[in-house]
Amino acid sequence: QSITGILGAFPPELVLLESEMTQKKDTIISQIRFIKGELRGRRVVLAETGVGKVNAAITTVLMIQHFKPREIVFSGIAGGVDPALAPGDLVIGTQIAYHDFGQIDDAGMHYWATKNPFTQKENPLKFHCDSALINKALLASKNLKLAKVERDNGSFVPAVKTGIIVTGDQFVSSEKVTQRLLKDLNAAATEMEGAAIAQTCYQQNTPFLIIRSLSDKADGKAKADMDQFYDVAARNAATLVMAVVEER
Ligand code: ADE
Repeated sequence: QSITGILGAFPPELVLLESEMTQKKDTIISQIRFIKGELRGRRVVLAETGVGKVNAAITTVLMIQHFKPREIVFSGIAGGVDPALAPGDLVIGTQIAYHDFGQIDDAGMHYWATKNPFTQKENPLKFHCDSALINKALLASKNLKLAKVERDNGSFVPAVKTGIIVTGDQFVSSEKVTQRLLKDLNAAATEMEGAAIAQTCYQQNTPFLIIRSLSDKADGKAKADMDQFYDVAARNAATLVMAVVEER
């Protein structure tokens, strides 16, 4: 049976996944811990990337090289950009783009495509998540028991939407920046690893999916909101990822 790679950036994104795994076996590669085992009857390998693009790329390439997963699924939290989304809501990534790669001048940000240095081919500006995995996530989300989110105005079942996810080495806590990400890139959510994983997977011919649950709205309150919502957000993202693995 082929193996599915699962990544998260920091421990709260991984606890539920690891606790649901059986027959776990650790492999340490270049000081990074990869946990092989079974999840919902499927073979998986789980690892923590750490925060940021370089960390994400390192863990992704090691995972691909050593475990040859047939696909990689990322589970984690993000800041909301789509004004219709609230903390706790989930975004299934359709396309993933950098928001900090390019030229910046007085007119603003000019986004550049990355390039594979070994083939000299230009990468897409937005990396496509695997459409079969997107469909599995959408299907799985229909009858999923997600934890309710306690907001100021009540207790809510999180919404699940597909959308564009953008990545930069920046924790976004500015409504002005969030407006730019919406206007320039039509982003639904912003985070700090997705596009690095996407580019690595693209250049290594590995299908991937990024699933994010919002811990905040990437505005002036983002830090405080994240402290309040990261736990439920991380758990719900992991719940959806487990359902995708099961559907596999
Ligand atoms: N992850 C969670 N919230 C975020 C934000 N506002 N910006 C970047 N990454 C995040």
